[in-house]
Amino acid sequence: MEIYLDTAHVADIAKAVKTGCISGVTTNPTIVSREGTPLRQCITAIAAVDPALTILVEAVSPTAKELIDEAHRLAELAAHVVVKLPMTPHGLAAARSLSRAGIRTTVTLVFGLTQAIAASCAGAEYIAPFVGRLDDMNMGGLALVRSIKETFRAQAVGTKIIAASIRSCQAVADLFTAGCDVVTMPAAIFWKMLEHPLTEAGLLQFEKDWKTVPGTL
Ligand code: G3P
Repeated sequence: MEIYLDTAHVADIAKAVKTGCISGVTTNPTIVSREGTPLRQCITAIAAVDPALTILVEAVSPTAKELIDEAHRLAELAAHVVVKLPMTPHGLAAARSLSRAGIRTTVTLVFGLTQAIAASCAGAEYIAPFVGRLDDMNMGGLALVRSIKETFRAQAVGTKIIAASIRSCQAVADLFTAGCDVVTMPAAIFWKMLEHPLTEAGLLQFEKDWKTVPGTL
């Protein structure tokens, strides 16, 4: 069970990593475009926060051959890069070739069970269903993830699930309960995960009562 941050914003990553809960970061062209820095600089800065972070970086080339070449370059950007490939015939062909070459891959933009099955058969290490985008259309993101998990379990395949496009803490909880290996989320949702009003109230009470305890440690 791993929490990743779905952002390339280094300050947000550094702050969250300090909690010890974060083991990876996911990016995509939209996320990188928000930072206004070249991709190489972006990924180098994220890796500098914690060299142990798994970093997902998306390949965008139009053909399988170009995706493969691009993936080799992306894999050199940091110690633990996983290359994201599109859920297309070219992306699947690249996943097959790259997995044989020992490059780690995620097939991204997965919205259906048959897509997940195809990506697993192509040798992807991870598949990334975009749960929130399905929920936005009332199309059952959690139900999809449950069916993917059930199918992978029934077929005893090791392909892991990174649930992406997260809209709420409830979604995070439900997706881990459904068996997702990773949930990647915006920083704001990560911080909300840690909060509970009873924790706040309990701390205030402890602080008050502690002041009445005589002596020092
Ligand atoms: O990791 C995928 C994610 O960035 C997509 O999120 O909010 O654009 O659906 P969203």
